[in-house]
Amino acid sequence: MSYLLGIDIGTSNVKVLIISSNGKLVATEEKSYPLYSLNQGWSEQNPQDWWSSTKTAIKTIISKNDIKPFNISSISLSGQMHSLVLLDKNKEVIRRAILWNDTRTSHQCNDILKKVGGLNKLIKLVSNPALEGFTAPKILWVRDNEPENYKKIRHILLPKDYIRYKLTKEIKSEVSDNAGTLLFDVKNKKWSKEMLKILNIDKELLPEVIKSTEVAGYITKKAAKDTGLKKDTLVIAGGADNACGAVGSGIIKNGRVMISIGTSGVVLAQSNKPVPDLKGRIHLFNHANPDKYYNMGVMLSAAGSFNWLMKNMYDNNYDIKSLNKLAAESKPGSEKLIFLPYLVGERTPHADSKARGVFFGISNKHKINHFVRSVMEGVVFGLKDSLNLIKEKGLNIDQVRVIGGGAKSKLWCQILADVIKKEVVLINFEEGPAFGAALIAGVGAGIFLDFEQAERNFIKINDKIRPNTNNYDIYDHNYSIYTGLYESLKENFKENI
Ligand code: XUL
Repeated sequence: MSYLLGIDIGTSNVKVLIISSNGKLVATEEKSYPLYSLNQGWSEQNPQDWWSSTKTAIKTIISKNDIKPFNISSISLSGQMHSLVLLDKNKEVIRRAILWNDTRTSHQCNDILKKVGGLNKLIKLVSNPALEGFTAPKILWVRDNEPENYKKIRHILLPKDYIRYKLTKEIKSEVSDNAGTLLFDVKNKKWSKEMLKILNIDKELLPEVIKSTEVAGYITKKAAKDTGLKKDTLVIAGGADNACGAVGSGIIKNGRVMISIGTSGVVLAQSNKPVPDLKGRIHLFNHANPDKYYNMGVMLSAAGSFNWLMKNMYDNNYDIKSLNKLAAESKPGSEKLIFLPYLVGERTPHADSKARGVFFGISNKHKINHFVRSVMEGVVFGLKDSLNLIKEKGLNIDQVRVIGGGAKSKLWCQILADVIKKEVVLINFEEGPAFGAALIAGVGAGIFLDFEQAERNFIKINDKIRPNTNNYDIYDHNYSIYTGLYESLKENFKENI
């Protein structure tokens, strides 16, 4: 029996997962690390914390489950996208990583747009707009605000590439994560020389680019000692968490769409050809599935909105079942109470860091159950916005697969089916990116011929939720108010910051 190990460097914890080559989930292990937010909108983590938690999680999963390290055929990695890791000439971390959800870089985003000569040119070069979360504006922020640190930079890395470096001593990057840096020519799968020249960033600082399924290195003697893995175990490049999440939910065929209701919300569809959105409303990135692309809409607060409501306004000790019961007490449409889920700004479809959450239409008949349900509905309206943009790109939507914490709520999945007027499918694996990384490890090591074979071995459909046509009218009504509200309020959001 051989095993495959996937690692996901998430924002709240590292997840390590082992699957067996014959299609079974063997074990998972998680270990958290702190997040630092020194100023409003700042979000940082210490890469050394990622590494020490990863070491502990690997050690624990091996010992707890009595895994023989020589049975682990290969390893691969997934990680939070965009977050900036800076190393000096000794390959030591220079400062804490600035994360994907950090919004301090609005000024640098405007600068990039000006230097490049407008959105059209930017999309032409890197297929995406300049957003606060992306990597390039973070690099410029360090140059503008911490020149001493900037001078020390010899390597610019993304989170999982840093952890891979700690495992193998190889400094490498791969296409799917690089796509989110704003320095990568997504269409041609290489660093954009033109973008680097315009921003005056030295190409030498960026790592060599390989495919997600290529061999990136082997476990070193030191890493073997630190983790309990066998020295020389094969390490495959891996991918961005969304690309790995897509692999792990079978989004390896055109026509399938992944909707993830996690802290953030993601709507993602694979395509054969790179089709950027000329207005930059949805992203175009490289897939971990070799030579494929995906379009993706990202909402910043999906289950995050729900968690906020429950923790701050209701009861910190809530569980999803009692909440579902509460929300189900309200009729579909929440008696016209409408929620805009822009608690920390928004990315898709409104790239607006100043937007904020709204409850609209509160009347004296509304109770807590309406508020809970309207948060669920507002999040789904945001997901529908992204889905509409994917349709607009001409991509087919044959099957919608829903994953993430929100997928555990049958009610939320039903609201989703009713609002998008499509059947929603649930699969047997909920492990997301870490599972996708383990499948990449298997394809990279030749244990599976390709992702389709990996999928056949592992992924099954567990449930299908059909839309209820009776609810179409009320949701159509609320959705049209929802979309109008942002337009009416966007100037007010700016004044209220
Ligand atoms: C994607 C994005 C997030 C992070 C979360 O563009 O910013 O989904 O990857 O880890």
